[in-house]
Amino acid sequence: MRKIVIAGNWKMYKTQADAVAFLQGFMPHLNDIADDREVVLCVPFTALVGMSQSLHGSLIRLGAQNVHWETAGAYTGEVAAPMLTELGVRYVIVGHSERRQYFGETDETVNLRLKAAQTAGLTPILCVGETKQQRDTGETESVIFSQLENALNGIDQTNLVVAYEPIWAIGTGDTCESAEANRVVGLMRAQLTNPDVPIQYGGSVKPDNVDEIMQQPEIDGALVGGASLQPNSFARIVNFSARR
Ligand code: 13P
Repeated sequence: MRKIVIAGNWKMYKTQADAVAFLQGFMPHLNDIADDREVVLCVPFTALVGMSQSLHGSLIRLGAQNVHWETAGAYTGEVAAPMLTELGVRYVIVGHSERRQYFGETDETVNLRLKAAQTAGLTPILCVGETKQQRDTGETESVIFSQLENALNGIDQTNLVVAYEPIWAIGTGDTCESAEANRVVGLMRAQLTNPDVPIQYGGSVKPDNVDEIMQQPEIDGALVGGASLQPNSFARIVNFSARR
């Protein structure tokens, strides 16, 4: 059975003090979380140390938002996998559209980062998704298939999560209709060599739409931006009504 993974992506939000305050509000909700689901918080690098200490012994997994492909070197501003694993980080987001759009991330660097993450024992969350213009011109499938093929070249599909994040749905409140997200995720799964890879949906997931999204048979989780920043809303999301 495919694992359910609900991950918060805090992006460039929250100081370490803010992160600890979040946990104080969020932790009391955790007793209610069904044990069939993995909950991950992908926090800024600067919050990892504090979160690592605060989450020790809890069910929440710690995630980072990027990783470099070398284990060390002259790469100013980058962070290497051993720096993450030392802190107990389990997951890392790779190839988020904001990295691709604003920081020159390419399919090739995404592929290198995926390999480095897996080599270090991290589970990468590979993000793919089309722009509004690509969707409007009927290129959704070809764009996503090409992103998957290039990113996954030579990648072990046993320690991997994939996220379908249509760019036009990110931070806009314009959620992809759940049946359409389900359709695209099903097509993505058919491109994978391992059909058990969990595939998340991301893009304006909120407390009031998470149940419908998670009731879709192909969707195995959510990658949540804005709604993961508030303890109550993220708690509602991780406690979505189960379909299975
Ligand atoms: P929002 O949930 O804010 O739309 O962000 C989605 C996202 O980019 C998660 O990685």
